[in-house]
Amino acid sequence: MKIKLLQGIEGAKKATGISVIIDVFRAFTVEAYLMNNGAKKIIPVGDIKTAYQYKKEHSQYLLIGERNGKQQVGFDYGNSPTQIASVDVEGKTIIHTTSSGTQGIANAINAEEILTGSLVNAKAIATYIKRKNPQEVSLVSMGLAGRKETEEDTLCANYIKSLLEDKELDITKEIESLKLTSGSKFFKKELQDIFPEQDFFLATQLNKFNFILKVEKGQIPYIRKIDIKKENHMNEVIKNIMERRSIRKYQDKEVSDELIDEIVTAGTYAPSGRGKQPAIIIAIKNKEVRDKLARINAKIMGTDIDPFYGAPVVLVVLADKSSRTYLYDGSLVMENMMLAASSLGLGSCWIHRAKEEFETEEGKELLKSLGIEGDYEGIGNCIIGYKAEEKEAAPRKEHYVYKI
Ligand SMILES: Cc1cc2nc3c(=O)[nH]c(=O)nc-3n(C[C@H](O)[C@H](O)[C@H](O)COP(=O)(O)O)c2cc1C
Repeated sequence: MKIKLLQGIEGAKKATGISVIIDVFRAFTVEAYLMNNGAKKIIPVGDIKTAYQYKKEHSQYLLIGERNGKQQVGFDYGNSPTQIASVDVEGKTIIHTTSSGTQGIANAINAEEILTGSLVNAKAIATYIKRKNPQEVSLVSMGLAGRKETEEDTLCANYIKSLLEDKELDITKEIESLKLTSGSKFFKKELQDIFPEQDFFLATQLNKFNFILKVEKGQIPYIRKIDIKKENHMNEVIKNIMERRSIRKYQDKEVSDELIDEIVTAGTYAPSGRGKQPAIIIAIKNKEVRDKLARINAKIMGTDIDPFYGAPVVLVVLADKSSRTYLYDGSLVMENMMLAASSLGLGSCWIHRAKEEFETEEGKELLKSLGIEGDYEGIGNCIIGYKAEEKEAAPRKEHYVYKI
């Protein structure tokens, strides 16, 4: 594992691999306390105008943060963990904008995965990274306004590095000496309304929380909490099953042939009745054919909207009706592909009416042009693409499972 130590906004731009954006005083300490108090998710925003815009569009969201350390007009709370620690934010979405930490997230454009870093969850961060065992880790100390190195962020980066290298540093003395350096502002009487003394103690409670905060990429990136203990018990496959969602907004971005191949291969490994493998997959990337199929599907539905929601790839599953279990077998191919797409960071959705598509003359012609003969029934259209929205699962209904 190669570990890079970087500084400020310029460092964030160079961050690659799993990247930890560190802001101890106080952005990511605040976020940890927010999540500990039950916040659902945090939307980190670099630009204050965007933060105001989101608040205008979603008045139920809480707007939190600072500029020059101070809570701004129209904000629900400032960037102080003392202020946050006693607030009930159960189930709330938070918009968070600060002059350093959230800027780091906005600038870490080359990072494979972004975590926020602070002393209150440093060990959890190191545990998470060690489990993933990536080739590269970037530890970015954001410092003052992302431009000037500060002792507490560099200390946090060095501490996480020591944990990753299995040589845990004892940083008790260094934490104490922060009172004289970058933390001295919390002990100035005239600054207590902006930098209360209690903030220092809340921000330096080393390893208080056993969760990490991960930035989920998307059109509007957001931060979610991952419990390190829970993660330990839930394997990646089950997690993927629970996190896959039907996506109905896509980016205008090509999906590589390699990724499509991985997804369809996963489809071909679905179980089938008597192992007959009665399903076939038509992987459509050609825009003309994709649009034609979309038109056929829309016509069946009686609309002229794009039933494929702008997704660039359609994987059509058909199954040979001579097999008694063809409908189940084809459905399993669909699910395998949707799960594979999700595990690769892509969005997908089952789009219906494949049966009717291939009962039309145009549909039959398409099969003929590919040399497909036999009694095939369309099972489903699995649309694939890069997500332009994030979705959460609906609550599971009551009485889903009966145990005997
Ligand atoms: C057999 C089947 C047909 C579906 N057809 C459509 C469809 O035509 N259009 C669509 O937008 N979603 C379609 N869906 C997606 C469902 O609406 C979606 O799975 C459901 O709302 C649950 O959301 P989730 O997949 O994110 O858990 C279909 C799903 C299944 C299983």
